[in-house]
Amino acid sequence: MRIVAALLHLCLCATAAVSTDGSTETTLKAAPGDIALLPCYTAGNVTPSLTTWMKNEREVVVGGGGRGGPAPAERRLAVLHDGSLNIRGVMPGDEGSYLCNATLPGNHTFQARVLLQVTSGPESVSTSITSTTTLSNGTLYTKKGSLVSFNCSASSYPSQRLTWAFRGASSSNDSLVSASGSWLDFRIENVQPGDQGVYSCRAENTVSHETANKSTELLVYYVPDRHPDCMWAPVSDSTHVQFTCTWHGVYPMPGLRWGDHGLFQVTDSLSMTLNRSLLSDGQTVKCMAQHQLLDPGKEKSCSFTLKPPFPEGEPLTAALVATDVTLSCTEAASTPPANTTWRKGLQQDAIVPGSKYILSVEGPVLKLTIVNVSKDDEGVYFCRSENPLAVSELEVYLTVKTAASSAYTGAIIGIFIAALIVGSAVIVAKTIYSNRHRICLGGFGQLEDDRGDVLSLVESDDEQIFQDAVPQLPPITNGHHTTLVQIHRIPSSDHEEAETADSSAQQQEDTVQTDEPEDLVSF
Ligand SMILES: *[C@@H]1O[C@H](CO)[C@@H](O)[C@H](O)[C@H]1NC(C)=O
Ligand SMILES: *[C@@H]1O[C@H](CO)[C@@H](O)[C@H](O)[C@H]1NC(C)=O
Ligand SMILES: *[C@@H]1O[C@H](CO)[C@@H](O)[C@H](O)[C@H]1NC(C)=O
Repeated sequence: MRIVAALLHLCLCATAAVSTDGSTETTLKAAPGDIALLPCYTAGNVTPSLTTWMKNEREVVVGGGGRGGPAPAERRLAVLHDGSLNIRGVMPGDEGSYLCNATLPGNHTFQARVLLQVTSGPESVSTSITSTTTLSNGTLYTKKGSLVSFNCSASSYPSQRLTWAFRGASSSNDSLVSASGSWLDFRIENVQPGDQGVYSCRAENTVSHETANKSTELLVYYVPDRHPDCMWAPVSDSTHVQFTCTWHGVYPMPGLRWGDHGLFQVTDSLSMTLNRSLLSDGQTVKCMAQHQLLDPGKEKSCSFTLKPPFPEGEPLTAALVATDVTLSCTEAASTPPANTTWRKGLQQDAIVPGSKYILSVEGPVLKLTIVNVSKDDEGVYFCRSENPLAVSELEVYLTVKTAASSAYTGAIIGIFIAALIVGSAVIVAKTIYSNRHRICLGGFGQLEDDRGDVLSLVESDDEQIFQDAVPQLPPITNGHHTTLVQIHRIPSSDHEEAETADSSAQQQEDTVQTDEPEDLVSF
């Protein structure tokens, strides 16, 4: 059976070349262990009387026509009766150029040349790729940035060429490295996603040109250092809120899960819609992320602790007519971030940005600039901050003063001070006059006491005027602590009302300090 197979093999491989002047040249390929049959005279059914086979110019075996008969079992090389050379059990080293000299009946001579190639392989192509992990389907994966070493080995006789080739998303079949030898190594330092693909080692017998391949798929996994992002998005239905957890730049897809229990879903963006009434101040919302590259227990996560909004800013602002004024509101507390807007009036009309109103955001600060202020702009403004938990407001009261009213106030102050100076001069004169007998006798002791009284009177009046002209602003506050009481505390520029306003303001200030903070606008 083995012989038949070997002969068949020879028939397939033998290629008879040019036949000129009664000589032929044939190339034969045989593998070690095969039986090789090297033909001599094949043109007709004649038996050569003498056949000599030479290899590389040296005689190897001689056979007489008919007398040679089948080769004795113990001889590996034998001339068959038709002159062909039979090699049993071809071995490496049998390759070479064989020449047959045959004497045909009628004393004709005939020469035939046979080139015998002994080749084997490539066989046992094996590859190893480190440092990688094998998936159940045989595909390997490694972590982005790793050092990956590729090794291939195979065996061929007499020699082979090994080639590592790569087929990836952006390359069809690039040859990476190629060399002769029994093994071939190369490595990729800092492996990248673009190195993901199929790596094939091809072994080619340099003589027979037979090839053998071994391919391995290599995946390059990666996770970012950063944690997943927990975000909040409003839902059109205001009773619900949507939390979204995203973790992009991960391969393959991570598993995400909201909360500490339940199944991970294979996705890089996972949303969860919650009924607003299920949320509470201080509640922690957490998203867990799982990936093959993260060891169990080393899952990444993001979370936030819900906090209601808390807009802060100056509750009282004054501006001169025809100037621009900017109201500021800082919302830094809210988690998740609040939607913060400026509103006008007790009806809280939305403020539409335009030539009159300019809105700007600088980090957590939302600014409203009112252009060319007029008396109509005076009143209450709200900085309204809303997050899934709550709505909170900062009230700001804007006072608009006319240039005329301040000039008028100035004139009144001037007249008042002038009157005081004249008045005190009169008092001093009167005092001096009534004490004129002591001036000469008793010195200035009595006089200085009286003058001190006058001076302290003037000082207290000065303070009064100062309070009227420049309102003292209460400390920074916010929606929870602001009350309308404070808003109306700004004294009018009319001097006539100053006295009463001042005394009532004093009472109201006490009220602010003793009363519990009260939300004007509840939610
Ligand atoms: C093997 O499994 C991995 C991950 O499931 C997949 O990406 C890859 O395409 C699979 N390879 C083959 C050859 O099926
Ligand atoms: C939200 O929850 C509240 C209280 O549990 C319930 O009354 C309300 O119907 C829920 N809303 C929706 C849209 O499910
Ligand atoms: C400011 O407003 C007044 C009317 O309120 C107008 O007459 C004036 O032209 C405005 N000034 C500017 C600079 O727009």
